[in-house]
Amino acid sequence: MKEQPPSAVKKEFKNFFRQTWVEVDKSDFHFNLKKIKEYLKKDTKILAVIKSNGYGHGGVELAKEAVKAGVYGIGVCSIEEGIQFRKSGIETNLLVFGIPYPVDTLSVAIYWDLIPTLSNFHDIQYLSGLAKKLGKTLEFHLKIDTGMGRLGISPQDSYNILQKISEMPEIKLAGIYTHFAVADSDSSYTQNQLEIFHDITKYAKKLGLKFIAHVANTAALVNNKKTHLDMVRPGIGLYGLTPFDHAHKMLKLKPVLSWKTRIVNLKRVSAGFCVSYGRTFVTNRASVIATLPVGYADGYSRVLSNKADVLVRGKRCPIAGRITMDTMMIDVTGVKGVTIGDEVVLIGMQGKEKIKAEELAKLQNTINYEVTCSISMRVPRIVV
Ligand SMILES: Cc1ncc(COP(=O)(O)O)c(C=O)c1O
Repeated sequence: MKEQPPSAVKKEFKNFFRQTWVEVDKSDFHFNLKKIKEYLKKDTKILAVIKSNGYGHGGVELAKEAVKAGVYGIGVCSIEEGIQFRKSGIETNLLVFGIPYPVDTLSVAIYWDLIPTLSNFHDIQYLSGLAKKLGKTLEFHLKIDTGMGRLGISPQDSYNILQKISEMPEIKLAGIYTHFAVADSDSSYTQNQLEIFHDITKYAKKLGLKFIAHVANTAALVNNKKTHLDMVRPGIGLYGLTPFDHAHKMLKLKPVLSWKTRIVNLKRVSAGFCVSYGRTFVTNRASVIATLPVGYADGYSRVLSNKADVLVRGKRCPIAGRITMDTMMIDVTGVKGVTIGDEVVLIGMQGKEKIKAEELAKLQNTINYEVTCSISMRVPRIVV
């Protein structure tokens, strides 16, 4: 007979025994979605951007919550992500943002009922051939590069291509979209992108094409209601993170993710004690050093060595020495009652203290998006 796991192992962890985990608060996710909805006109659709494992929060669970909230669809980055959602029973519209390369991957997307984004005429022709072969109308969204310089057909080419699309009844142009480069910081450049987009969609309408027009990421939808069009595509806002400093105040969103671990070892040491590789931290007094089972292989950046704080018993404690692959140390000197097994917050709240993804982002000279996306797959995501 198999042995029962010891009771100390949380039942939610299933096969995870290392005490490092992410908690995702689904009620906060619904709260953010509702706040965004309230900010839009009644008939504006929402494509919830739950790509890249839901910005590191855990894609499948949040995609299910978004479906419950009645979104029009979900934006994913790849065919693989779309397949993962379909296999998890998600039946809503799934728009793949990534370019279908090689082009024959389009047949895989179609098999799984994913809506591809097409960014060149070659791929449009391929889809048309596929539609004729299968004998059914195949949907796609067309992306226009109005100034992001990433994916999409150029505005110059778009008129000619739209004309050709209007003569291809076997494929359905379900949507036209573009992506802003500086919606968080430059309203005149964004306005210019919007005008280019409007000219193109006006032409498409003249050709008799019927489609959903969408352009707004979180920053655009917060900053400029004229970008809402038929549908918006919020990502970062759904997770309660901010695309720019004051966005949070405008929509009052709640961070959905907390990242936690536990103290697994404690050392009482005297002054002059060295901690971790490189001996970059040396105690200057009698100290208490705690070891945490989390490191850069979990996505906690090594750049944060000797820089960031964590929370223990509601108090900020600094990281001591270099973060290693699977472990790091913190200085818990003076934390009353500190003991092995204490919960430690890397991102989130504890008592009255809070560590935001934005704080860690600043310390490592990056953006909050990267902080949560970097939390590695070996860290279990628990929906609470
Ligand atoms: C095409 C597209 N639309 C929308 C979004 C959502 O952007 P944000 O997370 O800033 O709201 C992204 C994110 O990168 C994107 O790539």
